[in-house]
Amino acid sequence: SSIRRHTFVIKEASYTRLCSENKIMTVNGEFPGPTLYVYKGDTIVVDVINHSPHNITLHWHGVAQPRNPWSDGPEYITQCPIQPGRKFSQRVEFTFEEGTLWWHAHSEWTRATVHGAIVVYPKKGSTYPFPKPHAEVPIIFGEWWKNGVFETYKEFLGSGGDPNASDAITINGQPGNLFPCSKSDTFRLDVVRGKTYLLRLVNAVLQDMLFFAIADHQLTVVGTDGSYTKPFKSNYITISPGQTIDVLLEAKPSQQYYSSSSPMKQYYMAARVYSSNPGAVFDNTTATAILHYNDHQDWILHHSSQPTLKLPPLPSVNDTSASVAFTGRLRSLSTSSSDAEPVPKDVTTKLFLSLSINLQPCPNNYSCPPGGPFNGTVRIAASINNVSFVEPRSVDILSAYYNHINGVFRTDFPHKPKHPADYTGDRPFEGAATTHGTRVKVLGHNSAVEVVFQGTNLALGSDHPMHLHGMSFYVVGWGFGNFDERRDPKGYNLVDPPFVNTVAVPRNGWTAIRFRASNPGVWLMHCHLERHQTWGMQMVFIVKNGKGRKAQMLPPPPDMPPC
Ligand code: C2O
Ligand code: CU
Repeated sequence: SSIRRHTFVIKEASYTRLCSENKIMTVNGEFPGPTLYVYKGDTIVVDVINHSPHNITLHWHGVAQPRNPWSDGPEYITQCPIQPGRKFSQRVEFTFEEGTLWWHAHSEWTRATVHGAIVVYPKKGSTYPFPKPHAEVPIIFGEWWKNGVFETYKEFLGSGGDPNASDAITINGQPGNLFPCSKSDTFRLDVVRGKTYLLRLVNAVLQDMLFFAIADHQLTVVGTDGSYTKPFKSNYITISPGQTIDVLLEAKPSQQYYSSSSPMKQYYMAARVYSSNPGAVFDNTTATAILHYNDHQDWILHHSSQPTLKLPPLPSVNDTSASVAFTGRLRSLSTSSSDAEPVPKDVTTKLFLSLSINLQPCPNNYSCPPGGPFNGTVRIAASINNVSFVEPRSVDILSAYYNHINGVFRTDFPHKPKHPADYTGDRPFEGAATTHGTRVKVLGHNSAVEVVFQGTNLALGSDHPMHLHGMSFYVVGWGFGNFDERRDPKGYNLVDPPFVNTVAVPRNGWTAIRFRASNPGVWLMHCHLERHQTWGMQMVFIVKNGKGRKAQMLPPPPDMPPC
């Protein structure tokens, strides 16, 4: 197939939200950024030109990038940042994915406004596993900061504590009716009664998982993270940062809701924060958009004024059971035509990874900001198996690996936490102690990997949406409490587990995933809550080359950005 080129110019642009104007980072001046439309099997080249005053990199979230980590994008992991005035051409190949993915900046917190949807249509000549929808609409959840993203990030780094929450969640760039100065710009989806619409939902929010629902309408979930699921109906969805969910919306209000009154012309679509962290400060004001019926002449005749719009009932902000009840229903749709690796049955590499957020005492080599909430005595750190990840600065890990540069990273990432513990007690435990380092885990080519993520119940903890670059994985099991090595694997789903690139590990619980390390390269894995990532909840896998040319990493393109 032919290769299409796209030009992404990174530049600042002025946008007004919540009654004041702000300069934000954008691609081509758009917020949210442009949607990429491709067919499965396509390859595109994106010419990224940095006309902004800030460093940046771009990442194609959920795209495997077979043998080509050079285009993956995470700063200091697979490339150095694209500096102001420079350009980098990224090749993106859509081999395995079909459905909705997204692209975003992967440099400090610039992804806050530099992001957009990727729509991957079925291969030309093939069809969806459901009737063709009347129309398809990307719906991107984002955020707005009155203070600006760079300012918020700087304050966060300087405090040693939690970041300030954004001032609004946005739906396709708009906070909606309930916010000041926002009413006339609220995102509106116009629909024709009786038709079916495919909503491609993307959570691009920095710090929060979300609940989403549409008043008086049920949603049929058909896909997640660029792969199809067995369809199921739900009144709401849970979506974590990094995740995408595809739903079918039938433009027909449910009978059960309006039997007593007549159907209306407009309905609220609404999104609100879900957080399992009891101590968290968040803005739980509801972002809204409008579902608008185009063809409702009767209604206009019989009603002189629009009755007040109803908000859909959303689960409450800390409703963990509602969150896991939704996520636990996802099942992959196995089709014979699927190109995905089957669920690995015989695991060759097992990792048990404890995810923790804790207070780190000072002083040590990481000093604590004196002006912060803890008076310079402690700061918050995040770690995986007690290792808080440190990005190298002089060279990226991929180049260091490829060019055999010593001293950039160590290959002794621990398989287990230092002190196995009761992770679900309420008190800090030794197992949460943090050391800093750039340590990677090397995987043999095609090894069958199982990772068990263990969350904790510490005060600073929350669900962790863990995201893997380079390979999607199967979620074979999850549960609350401590993972039990003897009992829990017996309950694994090896038949139709969901095939995803991001999974929310519940607070006070565990999640088990499996994948085949079939993609040679350097691949980041991290929590997709931006503060946790910055605190160090990241690690890197190096997947070794296999035998034969087709199992080897490609050489770097000539225009890799210099450090
Ligand atoms: Cu959405 Cu490291 O990425
Ligand atoms: Cu996290």
